[in-house]
Amino acid sequence: MINIGIIGCGTVGSTVINILDKNSSIIRKRVGCEINIKKVCDKDLSRIRESGLPEKCITDDYMSVLNDPEIDIVVELIGGKTLANDIVLNSIEKGKSVVTANKALISENWDKIFSAALSKKVLVYFEASVGAGIPVIQALHEGLAANRIQSIVGILNGTTNFILTKMTDENMSFEAALKTACKLGFAEADPSLDIDGSDAAQKLSILASISFGSHISVNKIYKEGISRVSPLDIKYARDKFGFVLKLLAIVKTEDKRIFAAVYPAFVSTEHPLSTVENEYNAVYINGDSVGDIMLYGKGAGGGSAASAVVADIIDLSRNIYYGTAGKFPYVLYDKRMKTKIQDISKMNSKYYIRFSTVDRPGVLSKISGILGKRHVSISSCFQEERQRGQSVPILMLTHLAKEGDVKRAIKEIDDLDIIKSKTVVLRIVE
Ligand code: HSE
Repeated sequence: MINIGIIGCGTVGSTVINILDKNSSIIRKRVGCEINIKKVCDKDLSRIRESGLPEKCITDDYMSVLNDPEIDIVVELIGGKTLANDIVLNSIEKGKSVVTANKALISENWDKIFSAALSKKVLVYFEASVGAGIPVIQALHEGLAANRIQSIVGILNGTTNFILTKMTDENMSFEAALKTACKLGFAEADPSLDIDGSDAAQKLSILASISFGSHISVNKIYKEGISRVSPLDIKYARDKFGFVLKLLAIVKTEDKRIFAAVYPAFVSTEHPLSTVENEYNAVYINGDSVGDIMLYGKGAGGGSAASAVVADIIDLSRNIYYGTAGKFPYVLYDKRMKTKIQDISKMNSKYYIRFSTVDRPGVLSKISGILGKRHVSISSCFQEERQRGQSVPILMLTHLAKEGDVKRAIKEIDDLDIIKSKTVVLRIVE
């Protein structure tokens, strides 16, 4: 029998308890022995009682879980970084393996956690931290282990995907869509972490660190959120070019250089990521042997996250039962390894650009002249009809161009007197 202790009995914790109960016979077969919930800790004991566990399993003292010598696996589901960090490091120190859903903790404390796990020969699993029930961490570790990962493009934040879907399909305002996302329960307690790309950057940090074998910290990841996105560009890009806007988390190699970024970008309606709507997440991976694959599913919510947490508990329990736990590390961790992330100014991308200009002879040639001087080549151009007294929108798509060149060109163009308001630049991902 494998004994587990669960710390945190909110939506995910209580769903984990429920799955372990309702699927116990199939889980026992998959592990080889029974998984026993020995203790559940929450500061609100009534939340645990609702799950129907006997009183002897219930505690509000997390140290009683960590100090229980019979507990093999600690499941950390309280979130946050301070107490969760103590719980995880303390559990490792006591020789217990850990399952966590905590993206902030794992992405920030990668080195600390995995060096401790390596030296204590225990395992730390974290499948639910990215894309909840989508088994992307397992896929990168195992199913895609033969490949050099060339790119990962993820829709890793359900809240922003929900907002952009509603803005695109239902003309809903940003504010109304955000309010609905908060009501539906998949936004963070502080939704600015969703909107500004922080949540997606934490998840990308985890995927990139696994793929490249060393910690790629969140502060190395370039980040732009969706708060400045205008409904006008969503509409123009869809009507004129067949694009949809997504908040994408990207890590990719270009000529052996690695770039990592989170930003809103257009994808064509032909791209599989364009079909990922509302709170759904997807991860589109290119490996040098497998080519393109896409994993898709609900990236938030009790059922989805608990599915991943229980999968981790099962795999860990199997390892403990067969005596292989900690014989080899789960995360390839070598503190001497460093992955250099390049500055985004050197990254190549295609661009959607919207200029607001006066309508007079020579405007297009001035704009295209500056773009050309900076090696930015135009692939398509569209000018909207002029409304009396208003500026004219000129939409352009570019071929691949360097981010730094595009930024310099736009800065120069925005200084011209023909430009009526700040030019909008959004990347296009193919
Ligand atoms: N706030 C997150 C999201 C929840 O919207 O995707 C899952 O991490």
